[in-house]
Amino acid sequence: MEKPAVTNLDIHPLLKKRWSPRSFTSQKVDNDSLARIFEAARWAPSSFNDQPWRFIVGRKGDKTWDMILETLVEFNQQWAKLAPVLVLSIGKKISTKTGKPNRIFEYDLGQGVAYLTFQAMHEGLFMHQMGGLDKDKAASIFNVPEDYQVLTAMAIGHKGEPELLEGDFVKMEKSDRDRLSAAELVFEEEFGQSADFTSKG
Ligand SMILES: Cc1cc2nc3c(=O)[nH]c(=O)nc-3n(C[C@H](O)[C@H](O)[C@H](O)COP(=O)(O)O)c2cc1C
Repeated sequence: MEKPAVTNLDIHPLLKKRWSPRSFTSQKVDNDSLARIFEAARWAPSSFNDQPWRFIVGRKGDKTWDMILETLVEFNQQWAKLAPVLVLSIGKKISTKTGKPNRIFEYDLGQGVAYLTFQAMHEGLFMHQMGGLDKDKAASIFNVPEDYQVLTAMAIGHKGEPELLEGDFVKMEKSDRDRLSAAELVFEEEFGQSADFTSKG
């Protein structure tokens, strides 16, 4: 099943194609693809080039995968158990450069994940991010140091058909996608005043 973004204007085909499925086939993710998606994250920009992103990767069948699944809230466990790869994202709270708190580390980590997502799409994979996990439990079982913070988890794999899912998840998988309009998001002159891209030079 495809759920391309219904865009008003042309955007990059991979961005149009991307969505967050919960159904994944049992096909394994190639190690080379996996290495490349983390390479993409490595090359994201960050404040002071601090690169405050860290990842823990589990492949179905290994101990790490089991441990990541165990940290997810039950809702997420119910579908994420299909994913051949589970990843934990962890941010470094203290700047390596200044030794002071990095007040923007979550933004940077999100940017690393956005790069990773784009490369995953390029590899023919799909991703579903999750904020629903027990972060303290994850930090504890993976011995995450004090100056780091567990933030999200990700399911990665080859997209499956909705019918691989159980119960209400099938309907949710088939539901429409929606977005705020550009007019609600992009302003000029003052906050709330929609930017006009039509009438200017
Ligand atoms: C940081 C973040 C946390 C999310 N947490 C969850 C989650 O815990 N469980 C879930 O099923 N989906 C989660 N999602 C997926 C969003 O619901 C999804 O991206 C959003 O509805 C937009 O849909 P799309 O990605 O298909 O365009 C999360 C997404 C992001 C970016």
